[in-house]
Amino acid sequence: MAEAILCTAVQADICAPWDITACDINAARRQLVEKEYGVIVTEDAVQTAKTCKVLVLAVKPQDMDKLLREIRPALTEKHLLISIAAGKTLAALKKAAGIKPRLVRVMPNLALLAQEGMSVYCVGQNVKAADKRLAAQLFGSAGAVLELPEKHFDAVTALSGSGPAFVAYFMQAMIEGALALKLPVDAAVLLAGQTLIGTGIYLQNTGRETDEFIKAVSSPKGTTAAGMAVLEQSDLRDVVCRTLAAAAARSSELKRV
Ligand SMILES: NC(=O)c1ccc[n+]([C@@H]2O[C@H](COP(=O)([O-])OP(=O)(O)OC[C@H]3O[C@@H](n4cnc5c(N)ncnc54)[C@H](OP(=O)(O)O)[C@@H]3O)[C@@H](O)[C@H]2O)c1
Repeated sequence: MAEAILCTAVQADICAPWDITACDINAARRQLVEKEYGVIVTEDAVQTAKTCKVLVLAVKPQDMDKLLREIRPALTEKHLLISIAAGKTLAALKKAAGIKPRLVRVMPNLALLAQEGMSVYCVGQNVKAADKRLAAQLFGSAGAVLELPEKHFDAVTALSGSGPAFVAYFMQAMIEGALALKLPVDAAVLLAGQTLIGTGIYLQNTGRETDEFIKAVSSPKGTTAAGMAVLEQSDLRDVVCRTLAAAAARSSELKRV
């Protein structure tokens, strides 16, 4: 995720590569990022916090407290911390980072890599209008961005944060169905992917209700109606609801790690 955000910042000209420091304890990741983007790389988080006033925190939720404990002595009122860690609340971040830095919590998704990300953010009490503008610009330059109250973050994490994997799973099922109908694999991958993209863009752009759209494209006794009859008899809706509920429950659990 950090690489997706870094790539966005460079491509959207929000930062010159030489103004960005990528800090990672993983040497292979440092090498790759340095080669790919020409940014400064380091494994020294404390030095990074001393040098940079905007810190995007993109470690796993279970590594966040340790990282914040490490850099806390270097944090000042001039710092803006932007955390993308699932489950880590603004209150938990403040407890670990102290009261000095300003805090923004973001839930992005990996579609940032295709300039079609979905990022939702909420902010701490001492955040300035310029901080919000920066977060909206950074994440909005590679997709859609929305500010929502923090109480919605478990649902957001389930739907758009984890959503790319769920959509990929559905795409995989469509591809397998097409292969069973003897479509060549390359064609199956292209047709499934483009159908998901096109339908998503169309529904987004027109604002049409999904139910109304399905009715409109399912002519009586036609091919779509035949397929929809199978879907309607299945428990797919229930499975999807349970999938999102499990992801949201895990997001809630991560508050405690
Ligand atoms: N993946 C997604 O689709 C997605 C979507 C939304 C939000 N998020 C959030 O984004 C965060 C990152 O997820 P990810 O999938 O990108 O994880 P990741 O691939 O594990 O990336 C985290 C990187 O941080 C390094 N790291 C760990 N502790 C560090 C420290 N103290 N100082 C510097 N670097 C350190 C890790 O090194 P090691 O590999 O050596 O541990 C790893 O290279 C998570 O909090 C997650 O909840 C992810």
